Amino acid sequence: ARRPGLFKARLTAEPAVARFAEGQDTPILAYNGQSPGPLIEAFEGDRVEITFANRIGEEASTIHWHGMPVPADQDGNPMDPVAAGTDRIYAFVLPEGSAGSYWYHPHPHGKTAEQVYRGLAGAFVVKSKVDPVPAEYGDTVLVLTDLRLAADGSMPGNTMSDLMNGRVGDHVLVNGQKNPQLSVAEGARRRLRLYNATNARFLKLAFDGAPMTIIGADGGLIEAPVAAEDILIGPGERIELVVAFDRPGPATLKTLPYDRGWMGPGRPADAGLTLLTVNVSQTPAEVLPPLPERLRPIAPLPAPARSRRLVFTETMAMNASGMEMGFLINGRAFDMARVDIVTKAGETELWEIVNQADMDHPFHVHGTQFQVIAHERDGTVSKPRYLAWKDTVNVARGETVRLLLRQERPGPRMYHCHILEHEQLGMMGVLDVQ
Ligand code: C2O
Ligand code: CU
Ligand code: CU
Repeated sequence: ARRPGLFKARLTAEPAVARFAEGQDTPILAYNGQSPGPLIEAFEGDRVEITFANRIGEEASTIHWHGMPVPADQDGNPMDPVAAGTDRIYAFVLPEGSAGSYWYHPHPHGKTAEQVYRGLAGAFVVKSKVDPVPAEYGDTVLVLTDLRLAADGSMPGNTMSDLMNGRVGDHVLVNGQKNPQLSVAEGARRRLRLYNATNARFLKLAFDGAPMTIIGADGGLIEAPVAAEDILIGPGERIELVVAFDRPGPATLKTLPYDRGWMGPGRPADAGLTLLTVNVSQTPAEVLPPLPERLRPIAPLPAPARSRRLVFTETMAMNASGMEMGFLINGRAFDMARVDIVTKAGETELWEIVNQADMDHPFHVHGTQFQVIAHERDGTVSKPRYLAWKDTVNVARGETVRLLLRQERPGPRMYHCHILEHEQLGMMGVLDVQ
């Protein structure tokens, strides 16, 4: 077994230039010159110290460790901005059992959506010391983002429709590239970690020509593998798959239609995009160990000490300055100076997230992983197909999602819609853990 170590790194957020189209330079924001930012890999038990240098220009930023069990004052909350031109160190220990597919992105007040779509986001994989998934399957991180370019190659700012629906780009990129290619041998198995790091695009995906098995969610492996025809990952969510490449020729990762609710004109094409091509060669792979039948146990959270109800609504009103939009939780828009919910560390709560709005809203909480126990729509209750640790769950329009949640570490935590434009327009609250 590996002994705990110290993981040290430096992340500098700075302006950079990308080439998405021939002969056109696109100004972006990048961590250490890369977008997505560098892949961070550390092990359970490691101590992490990351120096963040904010060199993006005139704006404050932060780094938020999405999904990770870090102390509240290390979580890059909007109340802890890192001023333009300054540095800070984020330090935390990765507890045992925390292996999973996390990510990092800015979370400054009022600027998160723009800093993320301009390029600031990266994957943070916490590895297990004893991993049941065969090492022969590899471990490939696929960070999905989307991009919109103006005719001159620049990234246009958000429109009214982007504010309402969330910004959906024109091209889905995988690790910053359009339709990258992978090569594998016939019979290969690949472990893939898919990240939806887009601001607002829902991704319903399937491999054309290769069966998928779900092995993990946001917070690590699930109990046992589950075969899937297709998967839906909303903004902020991750999924871990094992894909079997048994047929020589290209196997493509494609988007399928999904109706997430759209206001006004300009609904983007969601189906038929090819995100990734895997070329399966005719040379057979060596004989691979099978995926184990059990991956890891997940203890169900205990009976809740109390329950809460969070209702998502949208409001539109015309006034002298134009259209005023509100994205609200329990009738209120975010206020950094207000505590919305007080909870006790170590106590399990039942949260009922009720979507009374006209589009889907992916719900996210900082600082912990929760367990979804039921979805309810039109009086019909359904259970999720498998128990999983999640930090983000889509709440489809008209739906209620029930989840069990327990916070372990004191301090303020955010909860919000992970359509980042909605978060910015008010669909966020503060949870104070005592
Ligand atoms: Cu990924 Cu509060 O965010
Ligand atoms: Cu988060
Ligand atoms: Cu939303």
